Amino acid sequence: MVYIAKFLLPVVMFMGLLPIQAQAQKNTSFMPGEVWKDTDGNPINAHGGGVLYHEGTYYWYGEYKKGKTILPEWATWECYRTDVTGVGCYSSRDLLNWKFEGIVLPAVKDDPNHDLHPSKVLERPKVIYNKKTGKFVMWAHVESADYSKACAGVAVSDSPAGPFTYLGSFRPNDVMSRDQTVFVDDDGRAYQFYSSENNETMYISLLTDDYLKPSGRFTRNFIKESREAPAVFKYNGKYYMLSSGCTGWDPNIAEIAVADSIMGTWKTIGNPCTGPDADKTFYAQSTYMQPIIGKKDAYIAMFDRWKKKDLEDSRYVWLPVLIKNGAITIPWHEKWNLEIFDK
Ligand code: DGJ
Repeated sequence: MVYIAKFLLPVVMFMGLLPIQAQAQKNTSFMPGEVWKDTDGNPINAHGGGVLYHEGTYYWYGEYKKGKTILPEWATWECYRTDVTGVGCYSSRDLLNWKFEGIVLPAVKDDPNHDLHPSKVLERPKVIYNKKTGKFVMWAHVESADYSKACAGVAVSDSPAGPFTYLGSFRPNDVMSRDQTVFVDDDGRAYQFYSSENNETMYISLLTDDYLKPSGRFTRNFIKESREAPAVFKYNGKYYMLSSGCTGWDPNIAEIAVADSIMGTWKTIGNPCTGPDADKTFYAQSTYMQPIIGKKDAYIAMFDRWKKKDLEDSRYVWLPVLIKNGAITIPWHEKWNLEIFDK
């Protein structure tokens, strides 16, 4: 008996450990463009996303693109799409290892007229926290399948990991709103940056104190410059916006711009990307800029490397933003980790 137990125990332990080991594969480096697995071992599915830091945890929200990519029969341009599944959320303490928290804003399958019906388009969700109301507020680009709706949709939750309640969509300040992000300033004021006027002009719109609507104060920026995919951060008292040109799912050259005041005058600096394929943004497109909490002047630039014919398999390109003597670069790295900011 004792002999059998002695023999069987290691076998049972070995068999039992196998699945645990497969799950527990820890990510130790960012590997832009490679498949990035969550803590369950599944590829992370959070495209066009943004990150929120709340009470020691980072939350990554993005388009949960599941299933076949199709080009509708009526398409006159490359409006490849997957059915809307919803917005996915992942949580992490180290920005490398992400736990799937679920679909926090699911598609609405039984109402073909609903903004979140699978037949529609849901892109670029971002979540901000409102200290006054205690609510987590999501803004996203809400579209019809042919991209003619050009609206912003808003949802709220009491918890960062959802579920979010959808409040509806509208054209902010009565103009089109497509690629978008939201940014909270140090004074608690929040702004939506959105590509408008057929993607030709970038609007910056101050939100109401509860972050649920536009306040009515806005500026028109980069007029007729066709910038999209805005990603915003603040460094040394100045505001920076990274953006792409407007070429559908295909990559183009990135640009960074700076302003002393968020509603003030923006000045284009140029392309901050360096290294191979920097003129094509490493075959990717900006989506968000995330400060690294606890490190000074350290940011991650988040990009999507779209695979237009298989959108679910689009990859993430996360790179360090390096600031030297005030100059900002986003250099290519095949493999890197946060220690890069300690050098
Ligand atoms: C570029 C945008 O940045 C994406 O979010 C998406 O809307 C595609 N265009 C669609 O072609």
